[in-house]
Amino acid sequence: MSNLSRLLKESWTLVEEQQDKLASYFYARMFLNNPQLRDLFPVQMDVQRSRLLGAIVTAVQTVDDPDVFAEYLQSLGRDHRKFHVQPEHYDAVGGALMEALRTFGGDEWTVEFDQAWRDAYAVIAAKMIAGAEADSTNPPYWHAEVLYHERRSQDIAVLTCRPLQPLEYRAGQYISVECKHQPRLWRVYSAANAPRKDGSIDFHVRALGAGWVSSALVRRVQPGDMIRLGAPMGSMVMDRRSTRDIVCVAGGTGLAPIKALIEEMTRANRTRWVHVFFGAKDRDDLYDLACLNRLAARYPWLSVVAATSDDPEFPGEHGKISDVVARYGPWNDHDFFVSGSPQMVRSTLRTLAEMQVPAIRIKYDAFGDS
Ligand SMILES: Cc1cc2nc3c(=O)[nH]c(=O)nc-3n(C[C@H](O)[C@H](O)[C@H](O)COP(=O)(O)OP(=O)(O)OC[C@H]3O[C@@H](n4cnc5c(N)ncnc54)[C@H](O)[C@@H]3O)c2cc1C
Ligand code: HEM
Repeated sequence: MSNLSRLLKESWTLVEEQQDKLASYFYARMFLNNPQLRDLFPVQMDVQRSRLLGAIVTAVQTVDDPDVFAEYLQSLGRDHRKFHVQPEHYDAVGGALMEALRTFGGDEWTVEFDQAWRDAYAVIAAKMIAGAEADSTNPPYWHAEVLYHERRSQDIAVLTCRPLQPLEYRAGQYISVECKHQPRLWRVYSAANAPRKDGSIDFHVRALGAGWVSSALVRRVQPGDMIRLGAPMGSMVMDRRSTRDIVCVAGGTGLAPIKALIEEMTRANRTRWVHVFFGAKDRDDLYDLACLNRLAARYPWLSVVAATSDDPEFPGEHGKISDVVARYGPWNDHDFFVSGSPQMVRSTLRTLAEMQVPAIRIKYDAFGDS
């Protein structure tokens, strides 16, 4: 561990237990010193759930691995254009962060700790600013019209929208979405189709209990509504040079990026077998199985196995999808794509590790903190 990394980790232990208070203080300082920044943030701000501070802390603490994060930070900077973030805002946010750390670090907060955080923050901010600048030919966000909206189950909707300007992305990537019902609240959703000529994009959304954005997208958005989309992100894309067969594991609406990847394969694939495992609680939540089965009937290289964990009468596999994947193994020489809830992704990654699948062959997206 480098000296910088050691200083960052050591100093974080001084404030770690007071994270909630630190977050409140951070936002209060930021908005007091720079009232104009308040308008960039959501109307109802739940400080404890706001993503900014946690993300900065994580980014700063991983600053030692700049190559791994360079691409991520670049696209994060690009993504931040949707919040109307300007280069000068980075100093304001950095200043509030330092004030909060010093206040909660108390007497034990040293000059070295202070310098380490300032240095690390500066590196990250510079990468994000560069990412935003490199994207100046694109709009900060895209206006898109909702063309179709179909409720597929109690909690799941499939919607199709068309951006008014071209939005380039790759199958497997995700895009942040904001709707008029929850202004300035952005959440990411995976594009559920490979790029089309007409530019339209499908999203598969599950309304999460009291979730702000997902419930609006499932229950309130209608055809004709305008939504806003941010720059695409994510690296769960197909390696077109690989010749290995493929295993896709999807839980619930985790099917979205998998479906986009399958669609990409339908345009080019002649040689790779693709095995899709699609799991959900019950058959209603297997909301797109009919379409998957149609694709499997049409493309001989595609096979689909569906499983429910909580529906004993379902005429298919039963149990957790990770266990079903294990039953169909071994999978010694395959590329893997895994997508779904953090729990589902965690248990699938554990199963694959037990089956000796090398981590380098697995790409995954967890729909939350994994
Ligand atoms: C890379 C990525 C891709 C994603 N792609 C998709 C996608 O294609 N489709 C999709 O549906 N989602 C996807 N998500 C999840 C999505 O981004 C949102 O996190 C989700 O829709 C919840 O947002 P929200 O505003 O409705 O909920 P928020 O208001 O942000 O609340 C969510 C939080 O509330 C809690 N919560 C509230 N109700 C429940 C509940 N019933 N069950 C569990 N927790 C609950 C949880 O702690 C959760 O962290 C993706 C996430 C990531 C990171
Ligand atoms: C080191 C610098 C920064 C990092 C690592 C960082 C990281 C993040 C991440 C990962 C998110 C959540 C992802 C998302 O919702 O798209 C986020 C949200 C956000 N960031 Fe940043 N950010 C930084 C600097 C800034 C700056 C300078 C501003 C300008 C004020 C800013 C404004 C926002 C806003 C408004 C949100 C949404 C907050 C919410 O929904 O609660 N960020 N940031």
